Amino acid sequence: MPDLGSPERPLAVAIVGAGPSGFYAAEALLKAPGLSVRVDLFDRLPTPYGLVRGGVAPDHQKIKSVAAVYERTAQDPRLRFFGAIKLGRDITAEELAARHDAVIYAVGCESDRHMGIPGEDLAGSHSATEFVGWYNGHPDHRDRTFDLSTGAVAVVGVGNVAMDVTRLLARDAEDLAKTDIAGYALDALRKSGVKTVWLLGRRGPAEAAYSLAEIEEIGELTACDLIVDPAETTADLSAFTDPAAKMKTEYVQEHAKKGEGTKERKVRLRFLVSPAELIGENGRVAGMRLERNKLVSDGKGGVKAIGTGVFETIEVGLVLRSVGYRGIPVSGVPFDEKSGHIPHVDGRVVPAPDQAPLPGHYVVGWAKRGPSGLIGTNRADSVLTVQSLLADLKSGALPAAADASLEATLKLLEDKKVRALSFSDWQKLDALERANGAASGKIREKFTSVSDMFSALSPE
Ligand SMILES: Cc1cc2nc3c(=O)[nH]c(=O)nc-3n(C[C@H](O)[C@H](O)[C@H](O)COP(=O)(O)OP(=O)(O)OC[C@H]3O[C@@H](n4cnc5c(N)ncnc54)[C@H](O)[C@@H]3O)c2cc1C
Ligand SMILES: NC(=O)c1ccc[n+]([C@@H]2O[C@H](COP(=O)([O-])OP(=O)(O)OC[C@H]3O[C@@H](n4cnc5c(N)ncnc54)[C@H](OP(=O)(O)O)[C@@H]3O)[C@@H](O)[C@H]2O)c1
Repeated sequence: MPDLGSPERPLAVAIVGAGPSGFYAAEALLKAPGLSVRVDLFDRLPTPYGLVRGGVAPDHQKIKSVAAVYERTAQDPRLRFFGAIKLGRDITAEELAARHDAVIYAVGCESDRHMGIPGEDLAGSHSATEFVGWYNGHPDHRDRTFDLSTGAVAVVGVGNVAMDVTRLLARDAEDLAKTDIAGYALDALRKSGVKTVWLLGRRGPAEAAYSLAEIEEIGELTACDLIVDPAETTADLSAFTDPAAKMKTEYVQEHAKKGEGTKERKVRLRFLVSPAELIGENGRVAGMRLERNKLVSDGKGGVKAIGTGVFETIEVGLVLRSVGYRGIPVSGVPFDEKSGHIPHVDGRVVPAPDQAPLPGHYVVGWAKRGPSGLIGTNRADSVLTVQSLLADLKSGALPAAADASLEATLKLLEDKKVRALSFSDWQKLDALERANGAASGKIREKFTSVSDMFSALSPE
């Protein structure tokens, strides 16, 4: 039998998940010197690009333009895109492994963490994941409703997702009118009655997870004032050794001097407070009980927040927790409940921490590292996993698939009567979205339901 990875027997790799990490893994494989390879790239949605389409905020179009890089990768004739194919529903890990010499999981972290406080399940309490998916037209979240008639919203957490969510609530909706925001979300934001967004950090400004540029963007919005309580930002700047922490602290200290401002909307950035309970009225969120925190050593060189037993209550009609994403277990693929992602050693999937790798199974991106890191972080990370895969190929640790022919996967899906969409199908949808958006001056008007996408591709 010819060598795996030779022109006579190209290496067949399945990548599950067409977000940044999946595309970067494909790129690394297709560019590997001296390797003959072909890649089948699957996504559960008909549309590629993962969080670049369904997560990155509509007012950050420059960041979304990274999709052009992925489009070039997808146009390599050695890559086939299988849209609308979900691992665990339409195809199993075992079926993929029987038809590919290696399987790379790039499924991201599509769920979210909870705060674990009383009242969290009240109507009006949602995850940022849902809100982000809603305004970005993600098919899973298009039907959600958020009560924007309320005057005040609390956003819990001060990471970059919290910044996106706050900015979308606080900015003038007309700023979003030409973006690719879902049409129904633009309509709802235009009618929004939100006047105050409470932005709640459990630690101090030096520990805030947001980037300086992201909080600055909120500070510069024309429609709202960013308000910081000087009593919560008292750190001595001369004592800082970490320049990033110092700049973030300096920024809020300077901002605190500006006071209440005169604009109609207010973002009230708070530090050293943790939600203790959501207070309900007639089954809906009406307020939030907050506990003041103090910082103590976490024993690992950092600081953690602990409650002081001092409480206050704020009136809010909507709560968006933005306390981190979390992986969803996929049937037939190991999952570490504790960390919330796929366990691995150097990108090689292991059944459980400290166990030997499963030959031929790899992981990249948020599914590998958990829900942190910018789009670019995934590039180097996917390269590392591909290096592990190629080392296994070289050492003979990669088992050849039973049937790695081009037809094998097509036949399987045909037998199951499952229709996969190709990359050229996506390109047709892309062109239609752009045309539909142009009518109202938008970059694109997204299809937000999978059935609408199929109908658009096969008109009666
Ligand atoms: C709200 C938000 C905004 C962000 N904004 C920025 C930003 O402005 N700039 C920046 O640099 N970074 C940003 N990030 C971070 C960036 O989006 C991530 O680093 C990156 O998307 C992670 O890539 P990934 O491929 O691991 O996961 P994802 O992008 O989540 O891709 C996972 C893919 O897997 C597919 N999938 C999941 N399960 C299955 C299955 N069972 N079968 C088949 N397919 C499946 C999904 O449909 C998805 O397409 C943002 C993150 C979030 C949450
Ligand atoms: N524009 C951009 O570049 C952009 C936009 C969006 C997302 N991203 C990236 O995507 C990744 C994910 O972002 P993220 O914002 O979801 O996560 P994140 O950066 O991990 O931030 C999570 C926030 O939630 C807080 N938190 C966690 N548990 C909490 C609890 N029980 N109560 C109160 N607060 C709690 C954290 O506080 P502690 O620090 O105290 O734990 C932190 O402030 C990040 O790498 C981010 O940079 C980038």
